[in-house]
Amino acid sequence: MKILLLGCNGQVGWELQRSLAPLGEVIALSRDSARNPDGLCGDLTQLDALARTVRSVKPDVLVNAAAHTAVDKAEAEPELAHTLNALAPGVLATEAKALGAWLVHYSTDYVFDGSGSTPWKEDDATGPLSVYGHSKLAGEQAVASQCARHLIFRTSWVYAARGGNFAKTMLRLAAQRETLQVINDQHGAPTGADLLADVTAHAIRQVGVARASADPAPMAGIYHLVAGGETTWFEYANFVIDNAKSAQPATTWAVQSVQAVPSSAFMTAAKRPLNSRLDTSKLRSTFDLQLPDWKLGVARMLNEIAP
Ligand SMILES: NC(=O)c1ccc[n+]([C@@H]2O[C@H](COP(=O)([O-])OP(=O)(O)OC[C@H]3O[C@@H](n4cnc5c(N)ncnc54)[C@H](OP(=O)(O)O)[C@@H]3O)[C@@H](O)[C@H]2O)c1
Repeated sequence: MKILLLGCNGQVGWELQRSLAPLGEVIALSRDSARNPDGLCGDLTQLDALARTVRSVKPDVLVNAAAHTAVDKAEAEPELAHTLNALAPGVLATEAKALGAWLVHYSTDYVFDGSGSTPWKEDDATGPLSVYGHSKLAGEQAVASQCARHLIFRTSWVYAARGGNFAKTMLRLAAQRETLQVINDQHGAPTGADLLADVTAHAIRQVGVARASADPAPMAGIYHLVAGGETTWFEYANFVIDNAKSAQPATTWAVQSVQAVPSSAFMTAAKRPLNSRLDTSKLRSTFDLQLPDWKLGVARMLNEIAP
């Protein structure tokens, strides 16, 4: 099996390089063509070159982990967000369809408006609140409408040991400040890039990528993929700080109190959904998988980044 991976240096892309490796030959591209094998184009703003790259590689599976993920910045650069998150996935879908290949793509809880308290199901009405959310929804629609053999995984609150993340920010602030204020009215599940990558590899194995197999592919579609359980940023921060305090008893922590505040306490360019809970039953039953509780993955990541 030949797999073309885009966005190989992002949180999810980096873990995919590991999890996809046992499946076959992985051609991993970053946005910097000079660093890519044979100068192949992995820049999602270069739509023609991107299409030529897919045609020359002829993968059995395309996995797109590249995206415009800077949610607040996207408010000021909607065209760039639309190009990366909607037009480029559309190009990948057109090329995948022409090859008879599968396209795996990632989307977000931000396609919903965050109302209510029930976990969102895949076919619930969307209603993005931000430029990022609108662009990701347009990307989903482009993929699903142009390539029957697609898997779209909607996820939330992604973290990885590599790079910056919320937990690392909390640990840094806890070492510097006596009081932290953390949002307590947004609900979701922190999801490890490693879990996303592992489930992606399982799913690719199960869909059967043979080009001769019939369409519509029975397992194709949108799936909600997040860790088990749910929390708020406030509870997540407390979990991280308590975990670090017990793991590093000799360390001096400045933090004395963590205060719960509403989203309105922080001015951000993009509006975030309050209810980011995603119902994962479709994914678990279709692929016969368990999704471990979010605390397991976060504790493991904290262990990995501990000094
Ligand atoms: N992060 C979250 O909390 C979250 C939540 C829900 C859904 N998602 C979705 O999950 C997927 C993976 O996200 P992630 O957390 O792994 O994001 P990430 O760590 O920000 O990685 C995004 C990747 O996209 C690349 N990229 C940016 N502009 C590009 C361009 N013009 N051409 C090619 N690549 C470009 C970045 O390249 P550089 O490394 O060069 O910057 C980076 O490698 C995305 O579809 C995202 O929308 C993420």
